Amino acid sequence: MFTDRVLSGMRPTGRLHIGHYHGALKNWVKLQEEYECLYFAADWHVLTTHHDDTGVISETVWEMFIDWLAAGINPARATIFIQSRVPEHAELTLLLGMVTPVGWLERVPTYKDQQQKLVDRDLSNYGFLGYPVMQGADILIYRANMVPVGEDQVSHIELVREIARRFNHVYGREPGFEEKAKAAIKKLGARKARRYTELRTAYQERGDAAALEAAKELLAETQNLAIADSERLFGYLEGTGRQVLPEPAPLLTETPKVPGLDGQKMSKSLGNTILMREEPVDVTKKIRTMQTDPARVRRSDKGDPNRCPVWGLHQIYSDTATREWVVKGCTTAGIGCLECKQPLIDAIIREQEPIRERAQRYLDDPQLVRNIVADGCERARKLAEETMRDVRASMGLDYT
Ligand code: TRP
Ligand code: SF4
Repeated sequence: MFTDRVLSGMRPTGRLHIGHYHGALKNWVKLQEEYECLYFAADWHVLTTHHDDTGVISETVWEMFIDWLAAGINPARATIFIQSRVPEHAELTLLLGMVTPVGWLERVPTYKDQQQKLVDRDLSNYGFLGYPVMQGADILIYRANMVPVGEDQVSHIELVREIARRFNHVYGREPGFEEKAKAAIKKLGARKARRYTELRTAYQERGDAAALEAAKELLAETQNLAIADSERLFGYLEGTGRQVLPEPAPLLTETPKVPGLDGQKMSKSLGNTILMREEPVDVTKKIRTMQTDPARVRRSDKGDPNRCPVWGLHQIYSDTATREWVVKGCTTAGIGCLECKQPLIDAIIREQEPIRERAQRYLDDPQLVRNIVADGCERARKLAEETMRDVRASMGLDYT
């Protein structure tokens, strides 16, 4: 039952740019070929920083889904949905809040960071402090074990692991756990039961971490086990109670830093973006006026690619031969900056051609996107409801 499952979310705050594409979406598309994937629009997350500016959510959410689909997210392989359409996220957020110490939240690096950086926003709310708890609910409610995120989010995933561990510790205990676990072992069948017991012993007596992993794999491959039994067997391995909420791991996306037009990180708020679906004339205009090495004032001045954001884009878009041509031409004043930018313009337009083509279908028929997302919400809700039944039961809130 605990099969590999990928989950990630994105805030609907504007049209997506090539930073989103190279930093996240391209990877999401790749992952859907290999794993069960769930991707969602984190609309409630926007409220944690923009509670007074909610218009942006509904304005951009459909455009964002079109960007996803245009990038190659395949709704037959990945479930795409809107967080608030699965209200169970809120229920689990509330329940996880009960086992999350305030100190843990105050120590999340992004908490103070954002408060210092986003001075024009009111970030003194309970909702903003609790934002990683909500992120935890987003992940744990699908029992996702892999969460593709950027560097800035890793500390959140670490916190989510702590919360899951604490939850399991408090609510995974049940009367007669040991007996129930032993009964569950029998249900594995003779061969697997023997193997499970061997591996568990190897881990518990000799601390053999590989044995622990092998045992987890064995359980993951076992299809015919009831959820509660599977949780017991996962928990029994490590000597805890039931593992109601498995701990997720960050899947750190190896992403090139995508420089914006001004050399700072590409971001909507800085107005330095190239959109994922940008008209070719605009790509051309934006790149042609893009910041270069500030020391290279005249055509005859030699430049240094390392001080030039255009070079940052070449590293993403250009092959080795082109890059060598850039370095040589720049450092010897052999080429001009406009010349240097041309292959980049061509590469970006080429990359976006199929993206804009795929988007057209959805722009022509907006109902198509609505239907895909409605299906996704329904699918997600079923999975979330399954976990919640289990969560409520483990907390003694099922009233049966
Ligand atoms: N916090 C993420 C961001 O701002 C978005 C997000 C919300 C998310 N919930 C998540 C990402 C769960 C991964 C998993 O980018
Ligand atoms: Fe930048 Fe290219 Fe100009 Fe060098 S030649 S400064 S790399 S744009």
